Amino acid sequence: SDRSTFPAAPAVSDAQIGAAAALLDAGEIVAFPTETVYGLGGDAENPAAVARIYAAKGRPANHPVIVHLAPHGDPQYWVAHLPIEAQKLIDAFWPGPLTLILERAARIPDAVSGGQTSVGLRCPSHPVAQRLLEAFSRCRGGHGGVAAPSANRFGHVSPTTAQHVRDEFGEAIHVLDGGACEVGIESTILDLSRGFPALLRPGRVTPVEIADVLGVAPRLPDGSDATAPRASGTLKAHYAPRTPLALLPFAALEPMLAEAASAGARVALVARVSRAGAWADASNVHFTAAPEDPHLYARELYGLLRALDRADVARIFVEKLPDTAEWSAVNDRLGRAAAAFEASA
Ligand code: TXA
Ligand code: MG
Repeated sequence: SDRSTFPAAPAVSDAQIGAAAALLDAGEIVAFPTETVYGLGGDAENPAAVARIYAAKGRPANHPVIVHLAPHGDPQYWVAHLPIEAQKLIDAFWPGPLTLILERAARIPDAVSGGQTSVGLRCPSHPVAQRLLEAFSRCRGGHGGVAAPSANRFGHVSPTTAQHVRDEFGEAIHVLDGGACEVGIESTILDLSRGFPALLRPGRVTPVEIADVLGVAPRLPDGSDATAPRASGTLKAHYAPRTPLALLPFAALEPMLAEAASAGARVALVARVSRAGAWADASNVHFTAAPEDPHLYARELYGLLRALDRADVARIFVEKLPDTAEWSAVNDRLGRAAAAFEASA
């Protein structure tokens, strides 16, 4: 993908890292960049810190959070046992955008796992995240983990810049600014706690890559497994902008665009230039050319949804992407954003 358009990250000093680690050590919460999205972090072994995260997000307490580990962190500390499948995936994808759900160790506070018997672990590759996790882990004799959901209010679009975090929480939350997130959508979540690998959330690490390592394909989310652990990223309506969003093939969007035009309503359109034709230039249409590359689309997606929320449009029309493996993570997030409005549409 095109890295030339990717802005350079601002420098984060050791003093800033140390100050943020000290806040975590004191039970406070800190927003920090990862390669996927910004996280809202707190000491995973301090229930009061985890409670602060839930309160800030407005998130229900039965939703478990992911524990972030430093590159030298020890996943064994957090789990009852580490299956060989987990070790293979760790060797292949950590540090990186893959979260593993594993049977948790007895010492892990209930609050982190939302009362479940499992825990989500991930080692991010972002250098600022790694420096923070290493500094905090030193405060904890090498075993510190940082519980961190995405740094947005519950149900809203995840933040991919420090400014997005400030837009969510104002100045109340301390933010480490590590620039724009390269992946742009949340990590792939793979559940290994059920006796078979199950994909709970698609992301940059794909089912094919996972199957290559495990020698067996993960079970895909089908929504019909009533015993599945609750995961907010798997709620049907999530990741939503505030403006109603419709996700449809371009042919199905055209009558809606025509209706908006005749009603004089200003609307946003995100579509391939080759499809949009004259609609791209219509006076009532705020047009954005959809990135052609799935990784680039993922990187720009949440920033785009936030920008469209500020664009003063009545509706956001998004061209549905091809139903192929390379687009599945982007389609998944857009589908959930659209689902937030389908009940009322
Ligand atoms: O990329 C990411 O994963 C980002 C960055 C900050 O690392 N974090 C993130 O966290 O997306 P959050 O809380 O917004 O989403 C984590 C998802 C939730 O859907 C949560 O329910 C699920 O992971 N999860 C965490 N622990 C789990 C567990 N033990 N069992 C099932 N689902 C779990
Ligand atoms: Mg989230």
